[in-house]
Amino acid sequence: MKHNDPIQAEERLREEFNRWASAGRGEEMAEEHAAIAAGLLAQMEFALDDKILDLGCGAGWLCGLLTDKVPQGQVVGIDVADEMVRRARERYAERVSLMFIRGEAEDIPWDENFFNKVISIESAYYWPEPGKAFQEIFRVLQPGGTVHILINLYKENVHSHQWREKLAVATHLLSGDEWCGLLTGAGFEQARHARIIDPRPVPDGYQSKWFESAEQMRRFRQEGALLVTGRKPAVPSWR
Ligand SMILES: C[S@@+](CC[C@H](N)C(=O)[O-])C[C@H]1O[C@@H](n2cnc3c(N)ncnc32)[C@H](O)[C@@H]1O
Repeated sequence: MKHNDPIQAEERLREEFNRWASAGRGEEMAEEHAAIAAGLLAQMEFALDDKILDLGCGAGWLCGLLTDKVPQGQVVGIDVADEMVRRARERYAERVSLMFIRGEAEDIPWDENFFNKVISIESAYYWPEPGKAFQEIFRVLQPGGTVHILINLYKENVHSHQWREKLAVATHLLSGDEWCGLLTGAGFEQARHARIIDPRPVPDGYQSKWFESAEQMRRFRQEGALLVTGRKPAVPSWR
């Protein structure tokens, strides 16, 4: 499916992910993405007062984990789907340092130079205009702040390519180098990509609509999720 008008594309995403949320998919994804999220968090360093944005936060489970790591900080989850945001707010109502907002990656409803980390799991390939979204991430990050994008659908992992036909919304299929190029184009430095392996075994006979066989899912997990990282320069480039 191709991306045409970005406004229509955002509306389509909102409708589709509202459906996912109502069907409980937001909470299911906590389980599906737990291993790669743990791999990512294990290699990040957190300060107690970090200000973190989770972009495309879904049902908010990652934000819940992050607030435990930054008890004196602030965590904000943003998602295009209002039903995801509603459920996340309901689940984490008692967490005063955690907030959920409906919004788009391409037009982040937040002040500039605020966060020192932006994290996004399994969302960036849906963004109709990822280059514009990276400019927005750059804007809301403090100088020296970092971005971590983790995705399972990317060019080098051929075992996820069939998802594109099964999904009801358009997706981008880019390589690690292409994602890094978009980050660099938005002003980030030290753009790099790496892999995070999902070490969980796949039982024989495992069936899912997303994979042709248990063996294909095994290969998909061995290939790993693509982690794309970058840093907003600590000193503005005009100095
Ligand atoms: C596959 S889900 C992943 C959700 C969550 N990060 C997780 O790992 O469970 C993708 C999420 O990205 C959100 N999303 C897609 N496009 C977006 C956009 N342009 N701006 C903000 N959120 C978006 C969807 O609404 C959905 O909740």
